[in-house]
Amino acid sequence: MAVLMVVGTSSAPPFPLPVTCTTSLPKNSLIPPSSPLKLPLFWPWQKLKVGPLSVSPMGFGTWAWGNQLLWGYDESMDAELQKTFNLAVQNGINLFDTADSYGTGKLNGQSEKLLGKFIREFPGRQEARDNIVIASKFAAYPWRLTPGQFVNACKSSLDRMQIEQIGIGQLHWSTANYAPLQERALWDGLVAMYEKGLVRAVGVSNYGPKQLLKIHDYLTARGVPLCSAQVQFSLLSMGKDQTEVKDISDSLGIRLISYSPLGLGMLTGKYSSSNLPPGPRGLLFRQILPGLDPLLNALKEISQRRKKSIPQVAINWCICKGTLPIPGVKSVNQARENLGALGWKLTSDELLQLEDGANRSSGRMIQNVFQTS
Ligand SMILES: NC(=O)c1ccc[n+]([C@@H]2O[C@H](COP(=O)([O-])OP(=O)(O)OC[C@H]3O[C@@H](n4cnc5c(N)ncnc54)[C@H](OP(=O)(O)O)[C@@H]3O)[C@@H](O)[C@H]2O)c1
Repeated sequence: MAVLMVVGTSSAPPFPLPVTCTTSLPKNSLIPPSSPLKLPLFWPWQKLKVGPLSVSPMGFGTWAWGNQLLWGYDESMDAELQKTFNLAVQNGINLFDTADSYGTGKLNGQSEKLLGKFIREFPGRQEARDNIVIASKFAAYPWRLTPGQFVNACKSSLDRMQIEQIGIGQLHWSTANYAPLQERALWDGLVAMYEKGLVRAVGVSNYGPKQLLKIHDYLTARGVPLCSAQVQFSLLSMGKDQTEVKDISDSLGIRLISYSPLGLGMLTGKYSSSNLPPGPRGLLFRQILPGLDPLLNALKEISQRRKKSIPQVAINWCICKGTLPIPGVKSVNQARENLGALGWKLTSDELLQLEDGANRSSGRMIQNVFQTS
């Protein structure tokens, strides 16, 4: 009898799970009976195309890496974050989302700096390191008024990470609502960074359906493919706008990336009105959590029946809706647990049960202030 390490199968608890193989290996098997065989979380053909890039069906978000105010970051967490990164890459995760605005105060840019360091020091296979795709976002700060300034922002990100090219260069938000003239300069900046080869592909974030169509048409006319659109998308954030953006993205071959798939932590099941996170998140959760019982009960019920954890079910819902989720992770345990969102699928009845729970809940995530129509 051999011992298999099985990861993320439908009947398995979180990852990794040693189980006993019931069929014996052939006599001439090259695998020694005692060596653990680790199945991948997904097969190469299940990777997703994002423009010219091929990425894992889930990426990880790094907003917390450097953010003291909202996420309670301090530099003593760096060793754990590095282990978290290594575990993710070793398990096939190759998409990491960051932004040039991530990191508070003097830690501005910290998320990109840490990612660069972790890539350089990655102890695993060279091929895994070479396949890492960084998706960074460039802020539409009011002082970035020309295409050249936006290109310089991209060069600064490359410097911080000490890499030569960013996988997906994303415009962090649209200024259409308050500074339409700036918007065109930023679009031209995206074109310029693509033409100079500073980014492999181009994406947007916080674009609503109308603006998404506009930028898509503009970039297409300039010969630049738009490969991804990032929006807040979760069981707490699944309104008409999300559906429209998804439909448009599908019709134009744009990959929808779902950010905050765990509702900033509210969809993990670990917070309640009597157990709130410190800081501004606690204030937000205090408003929303009391109205979330129908959704949290549905998540709990399905997670128990499927022997999955609540975060795994919440992330799997995003995957089943045809999106590419990028849950934020702050520790090895969170990364390990979230990896267990891969390798299985909720049934259509379970999807309906979750959406019914969400519809019957009065609590909703507030939309990002930068989200456009
Ligand atoms: N484009 C944009 O404007 C935009 C906006 C927001 C986010 N994003 C991107 O999307 C990424 C993900 O979104 P997010 O970080 O806002 O929120 P999220 O993914 O909904 O929640 C992440 C947080 O939930 C907690 N968590 C994660 N896994 C857990 C687990 N297995 N068990 C228990 N707790 C767990 C952690 O915080 P605690 O442990 O502190 O609870 C973690 O930081 C970001 O990192 C960022 O890259 C983009």
